[in-house]
Amino acid sequence: MLDDVREGLMRRPRELSPKYFYDERGSRLFEEITQLPEYYLTRAEREILVARASQIVELTGARTLVELGAGSAAKTRILLAAMHERSEHVTYVPIDVSEEFLDQTRDALQRELPWLDVEPVVADMSDAIDVPPGVDTPVLFAFLGSTIGNFDAPSAIALLRRIAGHMRPADHLLLGTDLRKDPRILDAAYNDAAGVTAEFNRNILRVLNTELGADFNPDAFAHRAFYNEAEHRIEMHLDAVGMQTIHIPCLPTITLADGEGIRTELSYKYDRAAVDALAVAASLAVSQWFVDAESRFALSILEPIP
Ligand code: SAH
Ligand code: AVI
Repeated sequence: MLDDVREGLMRRPRELSPKYFYDERGSRLFEEITQLPEYYLTRAEREILVARASQIVELTGARTLVELGAGSAAKTRILLAAMHERSEHVTYVPIDVSEEFLDQTRDALQRELPWLDVEPVVADMSDAIDVPPGVDTPVLFAFLGSTIGNFDAPSAIALLRRIAGHMRPADHLLLGTDLRKDPRILDAAYNDAAGVTAEFNRNILRVLNTELGADFNPDAFAHRAFYNEAEHRIEMHLDAVGMQTIHIPCLPTITLADGEGIRTELSYKYDRAAVDALAVAASLAVSQWFVDAESRFALSILEPIP
């Protein structure tokens, strides 16, 4: 983490990986975001899952679900229930970098769905994707919530290639992607009136304080999120309010001028052609494309190209 943070903060623009948002507080704040009136993504994806879960399970024959960036697995329960309708034994492998949250998710699932075999894996999906050996096949990989959008194109392709490398011919990938739309709707989703997204953004500085002993004053950073139309992505930044001098043990002192920003997240928005292009670059093909009633969000099924 120290090497990664050093490299990101020395770069221009200064940058931090969004994976550092998700300590327990950050994961809780993200859950709050999913309930906000402006943040339509989760509701739109849930709508598609409710309408299509049985069809997805029918088409894929899935016996095991391996989910990247599982979080609270709130929407995943819809898929798991549909899988259970077809087969007695269902295995769920949630993979997430947030260990505390993964533990809570496992406990909740074991309480609510006693028939489910839960095998959580704490891992950074950028490094490795470990599927426990001997799980029932076919496997359905799931990457929901448009988390793929938090990776730039080369990293997203590398990640999809890694997933594809684990897929046997009968396996599938279910991919959630937020769609391009009126920038005002996108801007509002990342600038909610209640300020939860701003608090989520600033949480990354609290994580650096806790994990690395840094001395950021989170209240001295302003949340800035906007839609970059040319790049088809939301950008989230934290801008220094007044000059900030930051000490991080083992790193040179960092001075941020008044208004100087740190980029904390990219959130790419797609259309069908963009998802097709990502898929092809990873030797995958989109075999099904489902959208919600307002065409805000897409769920696609991808399969390996033989
Ligand atoms: N899938 C859920 C949660 C999305 S939030 C949903 O659709 O609502 C993004 C999740 O990805 C968080 O739980 C976070 O901890 C996890 N995550 C982010 N970067 C990650 C990485 N590099 N490796 C593994 N998990 C990661
Ligand atoms: C997890 N990820 C897909 C969210 C997104 O919309 O890019 C994270 C988020 N950032 C701000 N609000 C939500």
